[in-house]
Amino acid sequence: MFDLPDNEILPLSKEHVFWTWSAQAKVNPIPVKRAKGVYFWDVNDKRYLDFNSMTMCVNIGHGDERVIKAMQEQAAELPYAAPGMTTKIRAIASKAVADVTPQKALTKVLFTLGGADANENAIKLARGYTKRHKILTRYRSYHGASAGAMAATGDPRRVAWEPNLMTGVVHFLDPYRYRSTFHRSNPDVSEEEFTRDYLNHLEEIILYEGPESIAAILMESVTGTNGIIIPPDGYMQGVRALCDKYGIVMIADEVMSGFGRTGKWFAIEHWNVVPDIMTMAKGLTSAYAPLGAAAMKPEIAAAFDEHAFESGLTYTSHPISLAAAAANINVMKEDKIVEHAAGMGSALRRMLSDLGEAHPSVGEVRNIGLFGILELVKDRKTKEPMAPWNSSSPEMTALRKYCVDNGLFLYTHWHTVLIIPPLIITEAQLKEGMDVLDKALEITDKVASR
Ligand SMILES: Cc1ncc(COP(=O)(O)O)c(C=O)c1O
Repeated sequence: MFDLPDNEILPLSKEHVFWTWSAQAKVNPIPVKRAKGVYFWDVNDKRYLDFNSMTMCVNIGHGDERVIKAMQEQAAELPYAAPGMTTKIRAIASKAVADVTPQKALTKVLFTLGGADANENAIKLARGYTKRHKILTRYRSYHGASAGAMAATGDPRRVAWEPNLMTGVVHFLDPYRYRSTFHRSNPDVSEEEFTRDYLNHLEEIILYEGPESIAAILMESVTGTNGIIIPPDGYMQGVRALCDKYGIVMIADEVMSGFGRTGKWFAIEHWNVVPDIMTMAKGLTSAYAPLGAAAMKPEIAAAFDEHAFESGLTYTSHPISLAAAAANINVMKEDKIVEHAAGMGSALRRMLSDLGEAHPSVGEVRNIGLFGILELVKDRKTKEPMAPWNSSSPEMTALRKYCVDNGLFLYTHWHTVLIIPPLIITEAQLKEGMDVLDKALEITDKVASR
């Protein structure tokens, strides 16, 4: 339908595309041609094993014909309807999403275009429901690139845009055991005490900020790009209890951790906690079409029964995206993808700990389901990171280059390597990627103390 020789894709793109998150003169994108399962191919037919699910989003894998067909049929039947109308697919997809939420408790769904606007809308819902203003989020977090979601983001991506961001956000610290601020002199602290210390820290902030001014606590259930930080048992339950005690809305950002990524439909289910609002995107359609959502308890929705929710999007509930979501959820159920991810999580844990044992530059490995990370260090005792704060290093750059040159596409962030493959990956395919990584780690080992 659209003709362009393969060798013109890259130069023409470089001429006309303005790239996000990039210095324009330095971009060097992979010209991707096709993708299937856990692999994709560039225009030169080079094959890559996708260890990042593109942008941590292609959960069911590439090229699933069932989702593509559902989108094609929807496009032929009705590609768009206005936000105030409803459609067959809007009825079906909203029920399908509500049905997979924790304990099926989040019965009302507001559809957005992605994760950032899902969080923006969740914040508006919480503010409207509580008639309070402040939002508490964690430092090691990313919630999106629009002004409100960027204000909520705790990591340095926020700082570039300050002070022109949404007001009212207060940040707090994450229960990050490997580099715990509160336990440097007591790294063997019990899990119970560790958890209590971080909950006390949060409660102290709540009290100083004034509970009557706090609308919501917004958290990634398992922190994504900022380090796959898996909360200890009791932490999420404790945050839930603090929210109940002070009348604060609990918002779980499951944009990255949701839809099977951690071996449950949503990460928060590992701790049997039901948030008041849950945001999602990425795995909601496995990226076959853009879509986000804020699913909420009926009482949150009921706060807007008699007056309007003053917000909207031209493309809310876009039928083609909803067809992708409904088909994606069906595929996940039919193929038991969540259960498969849980099983592969155990295989990933074994492989990660093998790498940890073999390589002195590995400080710690963590994973929950197919959400994994290696923290690379120059010295295991001092935990000096392999790259400085908010930066990269020649070793990290060389490690990633080795992987990509050898057909392993993965994401590195500062001194960490993330392992976030499509959830359909087999043990043999995981091993295939880990073998490349095993060799790549020899680069960082060279500068690590033994
Ligand atoms: C946890 C989390 N929340 C929100 C977002 C923003 O989603 P989007 O890029 O679809 O706006 C992301 C994106 O990476 C994310 O990881």
